[in-house]
Amino acid sequence: MSDNKTFQKAYHLFEEDYLDHLFFEVSPEGDIDANKYSLYNFTGDPKLEHAEWASRIDMMNSWFTDMRRKNRFLYERQSQNGSKVLTKVKDPDTGEIREMLNFASNDYLNMTQNPEIWGRIQRESVKYGSGGAGGVPLLSGSMDIIEKLQIKIAEMKGMQSSIVYSSGYGANYGTISALIGKKDIAIYDMFAHASLIDGSRGSNKKFFQHNSPESLEKVLKSVQNDYINKLVILDGVYSMDGDIARLPEILDVAHFYGAWVLVDEAHATGVIGENGKGTLSHFNLEGKVDIVTGTLSKAVGSVGGYVTGSEKLINYLKYTSRSYMFSTSPFIPSVIASLQALELITDNKAPIDALWKNIHYVKKRLQDAGFDIGNAETAIFPIIIGDDVLVKEMTYRLHEKNIFVNPVPYPAVPRKLTRVRLSITAGFTKEQLKYTMDTIVEIGKELKIIS
Ligand SMILES: Cc1ncc(COP(=O)(O)O)c(C=O)c1O
Repeated sequence: MSDNKTFQKAYHLFEEDYLDHLFFEVSPEGDIDANKYSLYNFTGDPKLEHAEWASRIDMMNSWFTDMRRKNRFLYERQSQNGSKVLTKVKDPDTGEIREMLNFASNDYLNMTQNPEIWGRIQRESVKYGSGGAGGVPLLSGSMDIIEKLQIKIAEMKGMQSSIVYSSGYGANYGTISALIGKKDIAIYDMFAHASLIDGSRGSNKKFFQHNSPESLEKVLKSVQNDYINKLVILDGVYSMDGDIARLPEILDVAHFYGAWVLVDEAHATGVIGENGKGTLSHFNLEGKVDIVTGTLSKAVGSVGGYVTGSEKLINYLKYTSRSYMFSTSPFIPSVIASLQALELITDNKAPIDALWKNIHYVKKRLQDAGFDIGNAETAIFPIIIGDDVLVKEMTYRLHEKNIFVNPVPYPAVPRKLTRVRLSITAGFTKEQLKYTMDTIVEIGKELKIIS
């Protein structure tokens, strides 16, 4: 870091007895240089604990200002017409609206645009008024239509019972925080989703190497006599990598050591397994996993979350999971949308077949071009670059070609694995995919990501 003070900005760090400074390199305009820092510097650096809120807020805003000035602010691009294959997207800085191919949405089966779903919402939601449930589920927020959805989810997942939450985040957080007490431990795949990890904030937790039953075994062995209950937690399909959990081996190891297993089906539902039933169905392991959670916001095209398990477990969670007990029941039109979408997914294979045709095409093109796509095997494709500036540059150039993708910089993934992420949906035409792949290859060559 330069020690020329004119190129630095210093923020005071207050500690109990002394005053220190946190230095940042700045751009000529005086803001924190967007290219030199990542979100971690403003959210995760332990030094920030010693800064006043006003300083912490100022640091992040200064960094954003520089990013916007450099035209590299790739967040908050606003859709003007929902989550369509061709979405009208407004640039938050220039105000410009362009029609873009949407590879940033997890609406894998394009259910948000399905007229059968809108029709059912119109027909059935009327009797519920504006759709607000008016109460938490244990009091006045318990509703017949919510019960129908819960039965459908449990049936799809091959479990005895389920409850729905207003979000997948709430379902994961609320389930894990209800279970992990002082003498228990949560053991996570190191790539498990944040909503799962947050469930054990301030509680005992350990991590095992991504998708490694061998590493899980080491962790379980090391803690086997120290805790009363052990919960192994993983995603069925990983949200940043698109790979599928090695569930059969993980389950064997966990059960050998007397641990329970929780699988989050957020990106597996509607994508893998018989008629999109998810990871358990994919491996013929229905009924073998202790807890299955998920979201209704991805292939289901709505919003809300769920947890499924034995009838006794679900009954226990109803009275112990605080994000369930103390939060109003989900919005009724979203419940109706979820119910109709799940019926469509389990009754008709055509959208899933179309999705897989698109997945196969994209995978082949990316691999043939020489991109590092890790172990991607579902609808999520990382283009692993390992350089935040290049990730932003590639995202920006794709944006300019009307291709909407997500940048995934550090600290969302480790520094060496930063990436551009593409989500594939069923509704893309062959021509749209070909244009996108041709463009990605061209930009990949320009940026020397591939040769
Ligand atoms: C793996 C995973 N689990 C849970 C969630 C949270 O779901 P929701 O958006 O419904 O809160 C997400 C993303 O949103 C996710 O990717």
